[in-house]
Amino acid sequence: MAAKRRRCGSLARRAKHEKDPYVQRARAEGWRSRAALKLEAVDRRHRLLRSGMTVVDLGAAPGGWSQYAARRGLRVLAVDRLEMEPLDGVRVLQCDFSTDEGLRWVEEALEVGAVDVVLSDMAPNLTGHPSVDMPAAMGLAELAADFAGQVLQENGIFLVKVFQGEGFDAFRRRLAASFSRVTVEKPGASRPGSREVYLLARGRSV
Ligand SMILES: C[S@@+](CC[C@H](N)C(=O)[O-])C[C@H]1O[C@@H](n2cnc3c(N)ncnc32)[C@H](O)[C@@H]1O
Repeated sequence: MAAKRRRCGSLARRAKHEKDPYVQRARAEGWRSRAALKLEAVDRRHRLLRSGMTVVDLGAAPGGWSQYAARRGLRVLAVDRLEMEPLDGVRVLQCDFSTDEGLRWVEEALEVGAVDVVLSDMAPNLTGHPSVDMPAAMGLAELAADFAGQVLQENGIFLVKVFQGEGFDAFRRRLAASFSRVTVEKPGASRPGSREVYLLARGRSV
């Protein structure tokens, strides 16, 4: 009985996913994930990305954000602990960014000192328990912010996924201390009922 209920639940989720207009649009436009439409929306709104910029995309698989950045003419270093299919114009690095070794590999892969943009769409494997998931997600956002603080050049841009709840305001204040503008972004493709938002920090001061 329980197995049947689980199967029905997952079929219903699948049907909902298939009907999602962002899933349909992402497919029609050849994006690897509907997440690409989130970055596109933030970029169009704020005109962030310019050809020739160097971007590090943390939590990149399956590659929608990297694909979007590469199509816009940026040099992309894509990092994920999962394997990711190669993409034209994108250097892919498979490692766990939360380990010292992973971080060292990313730093070594950065041939140019100057990074213009750090993106992080990293998300932990969710357990469904907010008391576990929220600190895990915030931990990844903090790691990405530490990295952005080390590698971004002056006026650099940082876009990071966060979940609203405990720790959110303190994290936002942390970014406001080292960037001139911090805004909360909720692109249309981010599910309305979810706590997921993105913090966009611009004007890095060094
Ligand atoms: C929401 S998905 C990213 C989707 C991606 N932005 C896109 O456009 O296709 C989150 C990703 O974060 C990655 N991730 C989570 N923790 C990570 C870690 N510690 N190191 C590297 N990648 C991580 C996951 O493997 C997953 O692929």
